[in-house]
Amino acid sequence: MKKIAIVGTGYVGLVTGVALSDIGHDVTCVDIDETKVAKMNQGLSPIYEPGLAELMTKNIERGNLHFTTDHSIAFHDADAIYIAVGTPERADGSANLDFVQQVARDIAAHVTDKGAVVVTKSTVPVGTNKLVKHWITEALDRDLQIDVVSNPEFLREGSAVHDTYNGDRIVIGSESEEAANLIKEINKPFGVPVFRTDIESAEMIKYASNAFLAAKISFINEIGTICGKLGANIEDVAQGMGMDKRIGDKFLNAGIGYGGSCFPKDTKALVQIAGGVNHTFDLLESVINVNNKQQQIPVDIAQMVLRGGLQGKKVAMLGLAFKPNTDDMRESASIVLAQKLTDLGANISAFDPIAMDNAKRLLPETVHYAASTKEALHDADVAIIVTEWDEFKDLPLTVFEQEMKQPIVIDGRNCYPLSYVETANIDYYSIGRPSVIRAKKSNQPAN
Ligand code: UDX
Repeated sequence: MKKIAIVGTGYVGLVTGVALSDIGHDVTCVDIDETKVAKMNQGLSPIYEPGLAELMTKNIERGNLHFTTDHSIAFHDADAIYIAVGTPERADGSANLDFVQQVARDIAAHVTDKGAVVVTKSTVPVGTNKLVKHWITEALDRDLQIDVVSNPEFLREGSAVHDTYNGDRIVIGSESEEAANLIKEINKPFGVPVFRTDIESAEMIKYASNAFLAAKISFINEIGTICGKLGANIEDVAQGMGMDKRIGDKFLNAGIGYGGSCFPKDTKALVQIAGGVNHTFDLLESVINVNNKQQQIPVDIAQMVLRGGLQGKKVAMLGLAFKPNTDDMRESASIVLAQKLTDLGANISAFDPIAMDNAKRLLPETVHYAASTKEALHDADVAIIVTEWDEFKDLPLTVFEQEMKQPIVIDGRNCYPLSYVETANIDYYSIGRPSVIRAKKSNQPAN
């Protein structure tokens, strides 16, 4: 059992801390927010993440997991101190390291004579770990052994607990063999393969991985747009491509764009990192531009089908979170979409199983929040599916027929097989797949 301190109880810090306590370590998470710390000590998770609250309660009860606002308690004799604070985006897209720098100062102020292995979980630009070491040693009033290790996370929100135990790799970047071995030992019970490298490469692996996944999504979205115009079906195209093991079948779902706390921020940050060494990352800039175009697709379809425009029309938005199984609204496609629809005079009635409280802070004030899917759809002129929650995927298509003024569905996440849609009496538009139109079924001209 190792004694571990985690600084920052956002999504990454909390999941990491809870999981490390669950595999037997003595973990103390430190955060400056007193109310949040008090709640977490009672086993209440500040974020919605399947399985997390249960693991929190279990490990608090067996004495492995603690929360405090006091750095000196958390750092006392810690074998490893994990930095998991935010690195928000600056106006120019680069990562703001103010929180990381503050943690470095806190470590210098409170680390005990044992010294520390400082592990960076936060996504930080290449070179930051060495800066962290510099910030700590510069602020220290005595000579101590401080080692830094880059150990980026690759967890997906909504399945972070599962991913922790079933990850593809644990990346450890360190100059010190001893420090790397400590982090290897700490993580051993997860049974996930370890990839050991230098600090700078580890930092880059995180950015490059996220940028590559974002590129896969933008690529398939572009192919989807072309498929839509040519009458091909993006799902079959993606499946056929994905059977080639060199391509892989994951992250080839076309839709109205990626969101969340990582891809939008990390892609922009990597463009900045490249710019810092006088390289224009053309490919990644295109990935970002393509993603920004995707939210216009449902708007264009809605304007095309409602020929008089969207003024005064009721639009049901199904799903608001950036993806299912999370209440996270950060960079969700729903934010841009709701603004575009509102600007065109639409009346939005929105429903999301759990993200509505967070959405209220981000969407236009005029958005109405419905208590159920049916209420959102009631009397609507058009429905737009924004997030592929199971609740929407399992919805009998007859509900659209029964509730809506006219059953026009724009599916931004390709939730239903076209063969199923063909059995229903709805007009159905999706991303990169042929439309299924009632008029066409009865051999009348479409639109
Ligand atoms: C991502 C990375 O997967 C994870 O490794 C990293 O640590 C953090 O960023 P996350 O943001 O939680 O995780 O979600 P993810 O499941 O990767 O989805 C990101 C976005 O891409 C979502 O908006 C999702 O809807 C979209 N997406 C994903 C697609 O549009 N198509 C796909 O095929 C896959």
